[in-house]
Parts: sequence; C-alpha cells; structure tokens
Amino acid sequence: MVAFQVGILSPLLSLTSATALYSTYSFHPLEHLGGVAPYFEPQDPPTLPSAPQGCSAVRAAYLSRHAAIYANDYDYEAYIEPFVEKWENYTGIDWSKIPGLNFLAKWNPPISEAEQELLTRVGKLEATQLGVSLSFRYPGLRLPKRVWTSSAERTAKSAQALVRGFELDDNTINVVSIYESEEGGADNLTPYKACPAYSSSAGSDQFSAFLKVFAKPIVARLESLAPGFNFTAEDVYGMMELCGYESVIRGSSPFCDLDLFSPDEWLGWEYAADIMYHYNVGYGSDINGVIGLPWLKATADLLLKNDGSNEQDLYVSFTHRELPPTVLVAMGLFNNSAFGGTAGSINDTMPLGHINHRRAWKSSRILPFLGNIAVERLNCSGSYGFADGEYYRVLVNNSPQELPGCGDGPGTSCSRQGYEAYVQEREELFGGFSKKCGVDYDNSTDTLTIYTDPSVGNGTVVGKRSGSLWG
Ligand SMILES: *[C@@H]1O[C@H](CO)[C@@H](O)[C@H](O)[C@H]1NC(C)=O
Ligand SMILES: *[C@@H]1O[C@H](CO)[C@@H](O)[C@H](O)[C@H]1NC(C)=O
Ligand SMILES: *[C@@H]1O[C@H](CO)[C@@H](O)[C@H](O)[C@H]1NC(C)=O
Ligand SMILES: *[C@@H]1O[C@H](CO)[C@@H](O)[C@H](O)[C@H]1NC(C)=O
Ligand SMILES: *[C@@H]1O[C@H](CO)[C@@H](O)[C@H](O)[C@H]1NC(C)=O
Ligand SMILES: *[C@@H]1O[C@H](CO)[C@@H](O)[C@H](O)[C@H]1NC(C)=O
Ligand SMILES: *[C@@H]1O[C@H](CO)[C@@H](O)[C@H](O)[C@H]1NC(C)=O
Repeated sequence: MVAFQVGILSPLLSLTSATALYSTYSFHPLEHLGGVAPYFEPQDPPTLPSAPQGCSAVRAAYLSRHAAIYANDYDYEAYIEPFVEKWENYTGIDWSKIPGLNFLAKWNPPISEAEQELLTRVGKLEATQLGVSLSFRYPGLRLPKRVWTSSAERTAKSAQALVRGFELDDNTINVVSIYESEEGGADNLTPYKACPAYSSSAGSDQFSAFLKVFAKPIVARLESLAPGFNFTAEDVYGMMELCGYESVIRGSSPFCDLDLFSPDEWLGWEYAADIMYHYNVGYGSDINGVIGLPWLKATADLLLKNDGSNEQDLYVSFTHRELPPTVLVAMGLFNNSAFGGTAGSINDTMPLGHINHRRAWKSSRILPFLGNIAVERLNCSGSYGFADGEYYRVLVNNSPQELPGCGDGPGTSCSRQGYEAYVQEREELFGGFSKKCGVDYDNSTDTLTIYTDPSVGNGTVVGKRSGSLWG
C-alpha cells in the first residue's frame, strides 16, 4: 500500500531521502487537482520568496482567486451530481465487498445543491491565513484602507476573511465590491464577462478528447471491480474532483486514496484540466492576454507612480479563477513555448493523445483555490553588483518569477526602466480590450480604474464577528 500524505514531509523522512536504498517516492493528489486544489505553495520555481539582498518591498499589488468553495456549479452539475445520483439510485452493488470502493457502502455526499459556490471553513481559514501571511511579508507597509473584490458572494467572503486576518482592530479595513457586469468593459475584476470574444466553454472539446484517453483504462478497471455500475469517463472525473472538494469540506476524502486512483491516473486528471485551461484562460486563445492586460497595466501605474498620490502601499483584489491565468498570459509567464519550443504552434505543446509532462502550464500550480499573483516594487541599496534604486518583481503563489526579457535586477527582479519598457511591450501585444473583445455595448473602456476612481467609493467595514470567528 502506498501511504497517502498531505502536507510537508516529516523531518525524518526528508533526511532519509538522500539515500536510494529504498523507495522515497511520495505523491500528493491534492497538489495535482487544478482548480479544485486547496491552496498550496508549489515552489515553482523554488526561488527564495523573501526580497533579494539589500531590497525591501515598498509597495505591492495582489490579485487572488477566491478561497475553497463547496463546488463550482458546472463541476457539480456535469460530473459530481450524475455520479452521486447514480450511486444513490443503484442498489445492485454491495460496495462493502469491493476493494478500494468499500467506503461507498457508508459514504455521505459532502455537497448539497444549496451549498454550491459558498466558501467552506477551510476556504475562510485559507483567506484569513493569507491576510496574516501578508502582514509577515510586508511589516514595513501601511495596512491597506481598502481591499477590492468582484461582487460574487465567494469572492466577497474571501476578501472579508483576508481582512479579518490582516486587521488588528475591528473596522479598520474596508471591502469594496465591484459589480460583475457584462457591460463593464475592462473596468472591473471580471473583464472576461464583459468580453464577447471570450468563450466560457473554450477548451471543452479538447478536454473531452483527452478525458476519454486517460479515463478509458480507469473505467475498465472500475467496471471490473463493480460490474453493472456502468462507470463513465465523467464519473471518473467527478470521483477524482470529489477528492478535492471533500477535502476542503471535511478535511479528508476517501477518493484521494492512492489505492483507488494511482499517481499516474491523477497526472492524467491534471493534464485534462490543464488542456481545458490552456484554451480557456491560457495561451491557447489570443483573447486571454487581452483580458489580463488591464490589471497588469493598472497595477504597474500604481506601483511606478512617484507623485506621492498613492493612498495605499498594498492593493489586494479578489476575483474568480479565470482572471489570474489571463494576467499570467499578459505577463508571458508559464509559456510552454518559451526557451526553445519554437517548432509548431503553442497548441502543439498540449497534445491531446498523451501527457506533456514537461509543460510549464500546470493549472494546479497556477490557480488552486486562493491562487494569487503579486507584483512588488522594491527599494534596493547595497545589493552587490546592482545599482541602488527601484526594482520590480512578480510572485505567483509566493514563488518569485522572472519576467521574460525583464530580469536585469537582483534576484528575479527588473529595473524601473526595464519594467516600464516591458509593460509597454505587453501593452502593444495585448492592449485594445474593447476592440479585440468585439464589445457590443457603447460605454466600454480599455482601462481598469477602480483603484483610483473616487466614484467607486470606500466600500464597507469588516467586523471581527463576535461569537463565531469564522461565521
Ligand atoms: C435517480 O433517481 C431520480 C428519482 O427517481 C431520477 O430523477 C434521476 O434521474 C436518477 N438519476 C440517475 C443518474 O439515474
Ligand atoms: C455601461 O453601462 C451599463 C449599464 O448602465 C453598466 O452596468 C456598465 O458598468 C457600464 N460600463 C462602464 C464601462 O462603465
Ligand atoms: C447499467 O446498464 C445495464 C444494462 O443496460 C442496466 O441494467 C443497469 O441498470 C445499468 N446500471 C446503472 C447503475 O445504471
Ligand atoms: C490554438 O487553438 C485555438 C482553438 O482551436 C485557436 O483558436 C488558436 O488560434 C490556436 N493557436 C495557434 C497559435 O494556432
Ligand atoms: C510564448 O513564447 C514564445 C517563444 O518565446 C513567444 O514567441 C510567444 O510570443 C510567447 N507568448 C506570449 C503570449 O508571450
Ligand atoms: C526608497 O529609497 C529612496 C532612496 O534610494 C528613498 O528616498 C525612499 O524614501 C525609499 N522609499 C521608501 C518607501 O523606503
Ligand atoms: C472615502 O474616504 C475618504 C477618506 O479616506 C474621503 O475623503 C472620501 O470622501 C470617501 N469617499 C466616499 C465616497 O465616501
């Protein structure tokens, strides 16, 4: 039996990993679950998160996906509910006698229709913990006055939970809700909803093609264990999704057991998700960089500004899973074609018949629950080999990333001139939101102004909530 371990290796185990006399293999399904992965920091790459020698952050902007929820409505309706209903309806199988699936004799489905899309306790805790982590990362920065969020309940509750971790006294930080308008142009935290050229179903055909490939042997294996259940590829996908959802609801899930699904099968699930995200929010569609650019541009303006007009040092915003990956495309990060993959098109890097294990685009590392992107402005002096001054740095889930063509500073950072030129170059590639999106309403805009536009208002305060801390 392969042990299932969540979290970090024990110190003893990591000491023994220097020897190859016995197997040190370990595998964590929760780190391969794409958009259903609980928050983790994948260290991809394992660059040091603290500021480079001689540098300290003087300003930063964060864009975060909401924290863990009970289930996304599409995931629930397409994969989880059909499996659960079939399991509930069909009495022809004595699950207690089936190895690997015997827990289904007594299992209770963790999600009801009413709870879908709401934050779980784990989700609230993850977001609160990010608030505390930010206070550790930026001890020298002023606490923010405002935190921004798109208007859905799960993003708003994530913002409130972060604020509860961040503020020391009640009612000192406001949450500003930005309406998820279909006519909002680029001026909100859900610009993909206002972009007709964006298709929320992009990637589903390619996903389905690979789903059949990876699920085929699993379906055959499960069917031989429990003949008559008529397992489908969608059932398999839903069962594996339940590993993630049940874990963030109950703290563990029997679906994560490596005796039920092997590591290679989890890698197949992960790749199917990565194919979908590649076309849906990644490099597989030309519109995605266009959707991500306004946040890159707006935060670059906030960070580069030198006129003393910044109301805050730290700008944190919450959105849904679609936006952060499009910002990464606008930035040029996790590009499978970078560093030499020039033969063929970007789509050839995500073949539909087998897994490209060497891809840079791994959704589990990009958009787990609470997945986040940070841009920091650093003040550096005495960084050996570099001039004193201002530098810029990007972190994804707390791993510093070197921007393509913008790495002339200490560590992974880039000089002010370099960053200005880089942002301008990305703008030339991906600017022009309204035109490229083909907006069909006449009051669109290409820029994100919520951080400086006074008409957006000051939002509402967040109390600590006496009684129930996480309520
Ligand atoms: C399960 O049974 C209910 C009620 O009889 C029915 O509406 C539903 O379609 C069934 N679901 C499946 C997947 O067979
Ligand atoms: C355009 O008008 C609609 C309807 O009044 C509004 O919801 C939307 O936010 C506006 N868009 C912009 C970019 O102001
Ligand atoms: C699987 O298919 C068989 C044959 O069509 C049918 O009798 C059985 O009820 C199906 N099982 C489920 C769980 O629907
Ligand atoms: C990748 O595939 C998508 C969907 O078929 C297509 O729209 C896009 O143009 C392709 N990209 C390239 C570079 O061929
Ligand atoms: C991805 O990398 C390739 C190769 O360097 C480059 O040609 C392409 O422009 C990059 N894509 C984006 C969106 O940055
Ligand atoms: C950054 O460094 C400059 C000198 O290089 C200094 O004038 C400025 O006050 C510093 N800013 C902060 C916020 O520490
Ligand atoms: C927001 O707060 C600032 C002070 O921090 C105040 O000047 C401004 O009038 C407030 N705006 C609104 C819309 O209440």
